[in-house]
Amino acid sequence: MKILLFGKGGQVGWELQRSLSVLGQVTALDFDSTEHCGDFANPAGLADTVRALRPDAIVNAAAHTAVDKAESEPDLARTLNATAPGVLAEEAARLGAWLVHYSTDYVFDGSGSRAWVESDAPAPLSVYGATKLEGEQLIQQAGCKHLILRTSWVYAARGGNFAKTMLRLAQERERLTVIDDQWGAPTGADLLADVTAHAIRHLQQCPQDAGLYHCVASGETNWHLYVKEVLSLAAKAQSAIKIKAAEVAPVPTSAFPTPAMRPHNSRLNTQKLQATFGLTLPHWQQGVARMLTEIL
Ligand SMILES: NC(=O)c1ccc[n+]([C@@H]2O[C@H](COP(=O)([O-])OP(=O)(O)OC[C@H]3O[C@@H](n4cnc5c(N)ncnc54)[C@H](OP(=O)(O)O)[C@@H]3O)[C@@H](O)[C@H]2O)c1
Repeated sequence: MKILLFGKGGQVGWELQRSLSVLGQVTALDFDSTEHCGDFANPAGLADTVRALRPDAIVNAAAHTAVDKAESEPDLARTLNATAPGVLAEEAARLGAWLVHYSTDYVFDGSGSRAWVESDAPAPLSVYGATKLEGEQLIQQAGCKHLILRTSWVYAARGGNFAKTMLRLAQERERLTVIDDQWGAPTGADLLADVTAHAIRHLQQCPQDAGLYHCVASGETNWHLYVKEVLSLAAKAQSAIKIKAAEVAPVPTSAFPTPAMRPHNSRLNTQKLQATFGLTLPHWQQGVARMLTEIL
């Protein structure tokens, strides 16, 4: 199987380089790749790349993920999150190739407390959410064989992430204040990459299972409880954390005004994915503990 991977340097892209390698020959590109265009600001260049390489599957881990910045550069966000994936979908349809793509809990407005299912009506609050939703729709309309995984709160051991930032702040400050009214599940890039590889394998045998799925770690938390868990695990690992987890104060989202609005309820129901692909999604604490073991 020939796989064309875009966004190879991102959190998920990096892990996909590992997980997809057992499925076949992977060509992995970034926005500044030279031999073939991997720049999502250049959708026509992406089409040329697909036509030249003729992959069996295109996996797209590239995106405009800077949620607040997207509010002030909506055209670029739309090109990267909607137009370019739409072009990839048209090329995949022409070739008969699979397109695997990632979307987000930010397609929902965050109302209520029930975990969102795939058939719930999206209503994004931000440019990022709206452009990611448009990307999903363009892929669905193109008629290619596709797998779209909506996920949330992605972290990885490599590069920066929320947990690392909080660990650093916890060493610098006596007291932390963290939002406690946004709920979701921290999801490891490694888990997403492993699920992707299993799902591609499954879809080769069962193409009728193509479509849109929610894919997050099990369980739920809020950012405040997440930080407390991270600091508690770090303390057990005897790292140089100066404050105690009990000194982390919960505050509402309104305490930290940001350009982009974020959903309060980012819970995603994953029953469809687990039942269709025969997979078990581990609890979010397992993945976070593993990531901390790697970085501490
Ligand atoms: N991160 C989250 O919490 C989260 C939550 C829900 C869904 N998702 C979705 O999951 C997918 C993977 O996200 P991630 O967490 O791995 O994000 P990420 O680490 O920000 O990776 C995105 C990648 O896209 C690259 N990129 C930026 N502009 C590009 C361009 N013009 N052309 C080609 N590549 C470009 C980035 O490169 P640079 O780093 O050099 O800019 C980066 O390597 C995305 O579809 C995202 O929307 C993420």
